[in-house]
Amino acid sequence: MTMAAVTAPLLTAPPRELLLRDGTGVLVRPILPEDRDRLRVGLHKLSAASRYHRFLAAVSELSEEQLRQLTDVDQVNHIAWIALDPALPGEPAVGVARCIRVPQDPGMAEVAVTVLDAYQGRGLGTLLLGLLSRSATRQGIRTFRAYVDEDNDAMLRIFRDLGAHVLCVEMGVCQLDIPVPADPETLPDTPTGRVFRAVAARAAGRLPSAGSLQAAP
Ligand SMILES: CC(C)(COP(=O)(O)OP(=O)(O)OC[C@H]1O[C@@H](n2cnc3c(N)ncnc32)[C@H](O)[C@@H]1OP(=O)(O)O)[C@@H](O)C(=O)NCCC(=O)NCCS
Repeated sequence: MTMAAVTAPLLTAPPRELLLRDGTGVLVRPILPEDRDRLRVGLHKLSAASRYHRFLAAVSELSEEQLRQLTDVDQVNHIAWIALDPALPGEPAVGVARCIRVPQDPGMAEVAVTVLDAYQGRGLGTLLLGLLSRSATRQGIRTFRAYVDEDNDAMLRIFRDLGAHVLCVEMGVCQLDIPVPADPETLPDTPTGRVFRAVAARAAGRLPSAGSLQAAP
């Protein structure tokens, strides 16, 4: 089952520059079909451990069809944001967050975030999830479902900060339901809550164009 857009989806938008918490600038925008090669190259830059955490399998290549599905998205039933490094030639992808609506439950979408190892731990995963949450809320998605390796502390910490409910753990994989925060102001004062509020402030024009998403100490 698909669902009509609750508000017009953001199919294209000019990249916005945001600063990570160490001051690194990244460009963020909805993903586009032209990002196919960026994802292909990005997969090869991910460590084996990160690839396993993302796919819960030892994936070393993505087929042309998989790359098409991951980049040719409608931003209604499949929403995806990409982060690029503007300081490097060709502006390579450094992170992606996506969610795909569950056909049997249109208010729910399966979520996944990936950040290149070299960019991890600087707030980018949280930032991409904040952008994704905002887009998902606008399309009527109220819950993210995630399947996360029980050893994936970084991902589990971020989802727990958002009030994740662990449904079960099977074969070392946690199934989580995460409420998509419709109003980031209601989130607790955690790193994740602060980044989500900064994303909302940036979208509302309360942060400068290259707004820093550093959390207040
Ligand atoms: C999981 C993953 C997406 C996290 O991305 P990331 O960019 O490293 O995450 P962040 O930097 O936003 O958050 C990591 C940590 O910094 C903290 N943090 C984030 N923003 C912060 C801020 N502004 N100030 C202080 N701390 C912050 C987070 O709470 C988290 O804390 P922890 O390290 O104590 O757990 C990334 O590690 C990854 O791509 N892993 C491989 C693929 C994967 O596991 N995907 C998940 C599939 S569901």
